[in-house]
Amino acid sequence: MLFLLLPFLSALFQGGDRFEESISYHLMQTSSFHNHSWVHVGSGWLGELQTHRWNSSSNTIIYLYPWSRGNFSNKELMDVERLFQLYFNEHQDFYISQLMFKDPFDLQVTVGCELHSGKGFLGFKQVAIQGHDFMSFQNETFLPSPRGGEKAQKACKLLNFNEAYTQRLYRLLSDTCPRFTLGLLEAGKAHLQQLVKPEAWLSSGHSPGPGRLLLVCHVSGFYPKPVWVMWMRGEQGQLGTQRGDILPNADGTWYLQATLDVAAGEAAGLACRVKHSSLGGQDLILHWGAPQSALGLILFAVIVALALLTGLGFWFRKRW
Ligand SMILES: *[C@@H]1O[C@H](CO)[C@@H](O)[C@H](O)[C@H]1NC(C)=O
Ligand SMILES: *[C@@H]1O[C@H](CO)[C@@H](O)[C@H](O)[C@H]1NC(C)=O
Ligand SMILES: *[C@@H]1O[C@H](CO)[C@@H](O)[C@H](O)[C@H]1NC(C)=O
Ligand SMILES: *[C@@H]1O[C@H](CO)[C@@H](O)[C@H](O)[C@H]1NC(C)=O
Repeated sequence: MLFLLLPFLSALFQGGDRFEESISYHLMQTSSFHNHSWVHVGSGWLGELQTHRWNSSSNTIIYLYPWSRGNFSNKELMDVERLFQLYFNEHQDFYISQLMFKDPFDLQVTVGCELHSGKGFLGFKQVAIQGHDFMSFQNETFLPSPRGGEKAQKACKLLNFNEAYTQRLYRLLSDTCPRFTLGLLEAGKAHLQQLVKPEAWLSSGHSPGPGRLLLVCHVSGFYPKPVWVMWMRGEQGQLGTQRGDILPNADGTWYLQATLDVAAGEAAGLACRVKHSSLGGQDLILHWGAPQSALGLILFAVIVALALLTGLGFWFRKRW
């Protein structure tokens, strides 16, 4: 089954040779214990796309898309939900009563599975406390992080001693998670395969110094995330191009800016080039100093048309 899906998956997540993105599903949990009460925030992510949320007032899963149930039956989803309810209850007690963490206390947990070429899906779980690595779960065993100190060693000892728990977690990560992820990819195919073209525009940023210009190329509104942006002189990529982080827009599309610091006299002839899977090989190219919009072209066309009309007018007058 996996083999049948692989070509589809690689097309979906690469969109070109340069763009590698792994296939993964993971849950993120942040819990804080402040002033004797817990606040839990939980979310589920297919790669970079959020597909689930935890409703901590009703202790239920919120499905963010109609296809967020993948191909699991209601019964199987309710079993998973019950497992999380149990987990949220138990871990509160574990950290406070057994490990004696003191108020205030912040916990971050990432747990999921990731496809590795040749090895299939590998499960993982990482726990951080007060922002530092605390312990991880690999191959059926919890391992303390060096920074976790004695408390991490104690936590791993207690957890590893509970074989029923480590086996259940291992099954969840090595069986349930990959099955769910593949089902989700299949069910959400139409959404995940959609392509949205980027818009791009140029501006100048804060001058980096006397006689210098900061050229900024904005690329916005594209989906999926992998994108290539470079300042060019002809066919020559400018190595000084600085790419910012790819940031989310509110509508689920992405935004990126690429800047180049140049001497003011050298800006002419530079262009920003954008490659994206939605462009079908027709790269966007914006030239620095060229008219930014169609306005320039329209003006030019109007002037040419006027000149022609005037010329025609003279010609007709002469003939009549
Ligand atoms: C802590 O909680 C108690 C009761 O739950 C409340 O009265 C108090 O104002 C809270 N303190 C702070 C600093 O939030
Ligand atoms: C979360 O659960 C509460 C209580 O059942 C409910 O009122 C609320 O609408 C739920 N929130 C979402 C976003 O589903
Ligand atoms: C994982 O554990 C199994 C036995 O539980 C062992 O045979 C195997 O070598 C371990 N693999 C790694 C990568 O540690
Ligand atoms: C869901 O899809 C996956 C991948 O195609 C498959 O392995 C699995 O058996 C399907 N059904 C369930 C209930 O997991």
